[in-house]
Amino acid sequence: MLEVRHPRFQWHDTPLDWIPGDPHTTKVIDVLHLLLPAGERWMARVMKQAAPLIEDAALRSDVEGFLRQEAWHGRSHAQVVEHWKELGVDVAAYAPQIDWLFDVLLADKPFGKRVPAWLRTRWIAWRVAVIAAIEHYTAVLAEFALDPAFLAGANPDPMMLDLILWHAAEEAEHGHVAFEASIALGVGGAARRLLFALVTAALWYEWIRGVRFLARADPNRRVRASWREFFRAARQGRLPTLGAALRWSISYYKPHYNPRKQFATTRVREVLARSPAVSAARVHVHSR
Ligand SMILES: [Fe+2]
Ligand SMILES: [Fe+2]
Repeated sequence: MLEVRHPRFQWHDTPLDWIPGDPHTTKVIDVLHLLLPAGERWMARVMKQAAPLIEDAALRSDVEGFLRQEAWHGRSHAQVVEHWKELGVDVAAYAPQIDWLFDVLLADKPFGKRVPAWLRTRWIAWRVAVIAAIEHYTAVLAEFALDPAFLAGANPDPMMLDLILWHAAEEAEHGHVAFEASIALGVGGAARRLLFALVTAALWYEWIRGVRFLARADPNRRVRASWREFFRAARQGRLPTLGAALRWSISYYKPHYNPRKQFATTRVREVLARSPAVSAARVHVHSR
């Protein structure tokens, strides 16, 4: 059973450069705040439609926990974007393409057209497979962030680090759900792999566009998107290397791929036990 925790984060003290002296890495990670609110809202919506179609009660309960966790993730990242607005960062120009992706192309009624009855369950299942592909990346990124070496010595803003680690821990917890749901809904290996390739291409495209966009949108204009800066951060262990990203992508194609195998659950528990926002949410629940 997946726990839904509802932590709350206060952003007023978090600066735009939340990794001191490393605005480029900050922007690379900040792309998450651009992509996740719309993406996770959409995931929660699709999984809500998938839940009643899943016969296995344990998996169905995981799907329900998954969608609640994702809805809270998306909401929490959206609040960071609200905080940016107060700091003079306008992201309005980035949003339409993302919104098109989720609200037009991958919508319940794609391009405003009603899906014919015979295709309705398939359309849900394929989109669950798209979610499984996205979740593969959130899970491997979570694994990267949950490593105690992540941003060690970089002195990041504690609130932002708390958000990232809480989110990473929950991604690790529910990393298997969409994959297993897509199989339960009958998506075959070929379709799953094809959708993964498309998701990979879209993710790279949007991430690079996001870094460029955020670099331009920074009112202080301290940074330009640059591969050299990316490689420097990867060497420092602040970002994954291209080699790691490639290995992650290939691993999805392995015949016995199983997202359940990835995580050290003791580390997940430890991170959640130490998170100030999660602890505060727990106190709040118990004192109600
Ligand atoms: Fe999430
Ligand atoms: Fe997730």
